[in-house]
Amino acid sequence: MRYEALKRDEILKGIKGTIFSNIILLDEIDSTNNFAKKLVSEGVKEGTIIIAESQTAGKGRMGRSWFSKKYANLLFSLLLRPNLGKEYIFSLSMGLALSSIEAIEKIVGIHAMIKWPNDIYVADKKLAGILSEFSIKGKTLEYVILGMGINVNWHPENKEFLYPATSLFKEKGEYIKREPLLSEILQRFDRYYKDILNEDIDRLYDMWNKRSMIIGREVSVMGYEKELKGRVIRIERDGSLILKVNGKEERVLYGDVSLR
Ligand code: BTN
Repeated sequence: MRYEALKRDEILKGIKGTIFSNIILLDEIDSTNNFAKKLVSEGVKEGTIIIAESQTAGKGRMGRSWFSKKYANLLFSLLLRPNLGKEYIFSLSMGLALSSIEAIEKIVGIHAMIKWPNDIYVADKKLAGILSEFSIKGKTLEYVILGMGINVNWHPENKEFLYPATSLFKEKGEYIKREPLLSEILQRFDRYYKDILNEDIDRLYDMWNKRSMIIGREVSVMGYEKELKGRVIRIERDGSLILKVNGKEERVLYGDVSLR
């Protein structure tokens, strides 16, 4: 398949009026999250989005790598400097996850779900992931980098992966143009971001919960060193996962979930 490079003008046109006024579009970089971190140290303002056509060292959660193919997918990082308490860090990635599944539904017509913490799945296959990196000063967030990779027209086939992957191309059976999808995600995120800045996350939290694929399900969670098996009771606003394990509630802050 012949992939087409992203058109900067089209993206800019699609996100007029949002906080994203500074677009950095790169042909190749180690990782857009790393690049964003460099910009943070140089004092770059909030509302900057770094988009790359390819990454040489794309990072996933839990020390994993993120693979993509040049010009095929969406790889981007949002640089935010919200004036918020650190308890809002999860809401920000919740906002991006929800924005992306809503945008995918509207632009591509595919129904995706969210797997804790903020992976995007279509049926039992992983379509996209979010890696958030941030710094906390005292009780507040100094900066937040939300990095997202979406398998738009290509997905890794490696059978050794923890989860099988898919792409929008595979699910839809046709080439997907990337600019309208990215613009729709950013427009939606812009609205959720304003709610979060007003500390008004009820609507976001409710809608996110409706799209969570693990609530009420039997799961196993691989955390730092131990595995927990139980039923998901709820996910709290700060992102902690509450499991019922042998009749007792357990709180999990970090890990990988598999459905049982
Ligand atoms: C995950 O599901 O493990 C998170 C994947 C996040 C990948 C994206 S691609 C753009 C940004 N830059 C990175 O190095 N990682 C994120």
